[in-house]
Amino acid sequence: MNKDIVCIGAGYIGGPTMAVIAKMNPDRKVIVVDINADRIAAWNSEDYSIPIYEPGLVDVVKEVRGRNLFFSTDIKGAVQQCDIVFVGVNTPTKMFGRGSGRASDLQYWEATARSIKEYANGDKVVVEKSTLPVRTAAAMEAILNGGTGNGERGTGIKFTVLSNPEFLAEGTAIKDLLEPDRVLIGGPETEEGRRALEAVVDIYAAWVPREKILTTNVWSAELTKLAANAFLAQRVSSINAIAGLCEATGADVDEVARVVGADRRIGPKFLKAGPGFGGSCFKKDVLNLVYLCETFGLHTAAEYWTGVIRMNQHQQERIVSRLFSAMFNTLANKKIALFGFAFKADTGDTRETPAGTVARLLMEEHVRVTVTDPKALDNARRDLADLPGVVYEEDEYKAAEGADAIVLMTDWRHYPTLDWQKIYDSMRKPALVFDTRNCLDAAELRRIGFRVLNVGK
Ligand code: UDX
Ligand code: UDX
Repeated sequence: MNKDIVCIGAGYIGGPTMAVIAKMNPDRKVIVVDINADRIAAWNSEDYSIPIYEPGLVDVVKEVRGRNLFFSTDIKGAVQQCDIVFVGVNTPTKMFGRGSGRASDLQYWEATARSIKEYANGDKVVVEKSTLPVRTAAAMEAILNGGTGNGERGTGIKFTVLSNPEFLAEGTAIKDLLEPDRVLIGGPETEEGRRALEAVVDIYAAWVPREKILTTNVWSAELTKLAANAFLAQRVSSINAIAGLCEATGADVDEVARVVGADRRIGPKFLKAGPGFGGSCFKKDVLNLVYLCETFGLHTAAEYWTGVIRMNQHQQERIVSRLFSAMFNTLANKKIALFGFAFKADTGDTRETPAGTVARLLMEEHVRVTVTDPKALDNARRDLADLPGVVYEEDEYKAAEGADAIVLMTDWRHYPTLDWQKIYDSMRKPALVFDTRNCLDAAELRRIGFRVLNVGK
């Protein structure tokens, strides 16, 4: 087996992961391929206008591109050169047919497996990087090995499928890759499986301490990825469920979270109340878990996880209900500026962003919505293309001019440092700020003259 690596899928997962693998393994050639030629051209662009914004990523790409990291559309050539094939193509929630709205759409995955099979000129280790439903590896092995069940196809080429799910969070991807809490690799419990597993462990062992590289069987690895994201999502929904109660009782959710999180058994992270979770993974993975539970007849477990998603949606509906009450039970024709559209700070990503849901609910109330965001305006324009009335404004001060309310949706670091007096002066009175991230100085805003709403206070 040679040490070279190809990754199919130059997206959020494939790009950063392979850049770091190449940086830490200068003796290996790493080729990232994609069917999307524009995307590959962007990764190869001379001025490094790479398609993904991640702090630190450009520096890593500058260091390794052309040294041992290459981007290409030649999937066939790359699969033939490398014995280890990572697959990081997208697996969105299926929006048609059986399992619609919950199951993963595996058509890209299957097509990719079929092209690997077509191009392979020798034994290959195929590594699942995408998040996939449990037992996908079995289906992939069946496709790759021609369904003979003995791990071989007519030509004698052997494919071994491993699962190596990614835990990186957007905005901290490079840090998460360089200093992971753990790396998870699942492999079949056969002689070949063990050899393949060791080959992939070696890639990470170049910089990750051995005790942090956890190996399991394939099914555990596939399920762990879904479970880990479901647990994180569940924590956010739990604290948001407490937030409503805080508003009703006079408790302060940030105080409650601080003290609850001081218990070492619980820990302080992922207890920040807010507008609800967004991002490409949480909803998709929890829905996937729900679908799996239902498939195996575990209906109560399915309902339990469905509650996590329902609570999350409710949090966004509650934002609009509270605005409605605070703004004298009519929002029609009022101007509301959404500060932030990305699903969290430090990313331009708007997939499943709570701001999108809030913008839509406000438009239903005939609000004049203006959106401002330092990184996500292009995505916002695309996401809300069916709502022609929405205004997009790069400058926060202009976005706020004449507005009745500002709803802070994303905790961009510079928002607290804006000149809030200047913003207040330009707004229609009474001027309201709804800080859904509890990141502004509420006392100072009240001193200026704002009415202030927070989540969980
Ligand atoms: C990843 C994982 O794949 C997904 O399972 C996880 O839950 C979220 O992150 P991501 O990297 O975010 O997906 O997807 P995306 O940024 O859309 O990148 C996927 C890439 O695969 C795209 O560039 C697409 O062009 C490419 N692709 C897709 C192929 O090269 N071949 C295909 O057949 C399909
Ligand atoms: C997540 C997981 O963290 C990562 O391990 C997995 O591989 C992919 O999904 P990501 O979606 O990039 O990563 O973002 P993350 O930082 O986890 O935040 C998810 C959402 O939860 C964001 O919308 C964030 O604002 C929200 N969140 C997070 C809260 O509302 N409160 C918190 O305390 C933490």
